[in-house]
Amino acid sequence: MDNKLTFHHIGIACHRIEKTRTFYEAMGYSASAVVEDEVQHVKVCFLDKADAPRLELLEPLDDKSPVARTLANAGVTPYHLCYEVADIEETIQSLRGERFLLVSGPVAAPAMDGHRVAFLFKKDTGLIELVETE
Ligand code: NI
Repeated sequence: MDNKLTFHHIGIACHRIEKTRTFYEAMGYSASAVVEDEVQHVKVCFLDKADAPRLELLEPLDDKSPVARTLANAGVTPYHLCYEVADIEETIQSLRGERFLLVSGPVAAPAMDGHRVAFLFKKDTGLIELVETE
């Protein structure tokens, strides 16, 4: 396994960022500005708190959003873990060798300062996201 994966955030699908983030803000998380990502068809808000994992709230922009399917199936729920990697192409290749399917990307993500992201899925692992640090 590629042990160069560094935890980055937990992605949480939600119907309305404004409604879901209030719970976390009450627990002391600070919310980032909401950014629209038209490639992924989502609105994104990061939640940060010292010594707690970073959270990412994702609200669908429309029915084409993969988040809309997650919400329809499971309601508001955590649905991906994201890891930082130095070289996204190399890591995708490595994970494909372990039978992950490339779901989308790599593509620049506005909510991640333009860093490239990719989503991969494996039945026994679930959905993971990679974000390239460089
Ligand atoms: Ni994410």
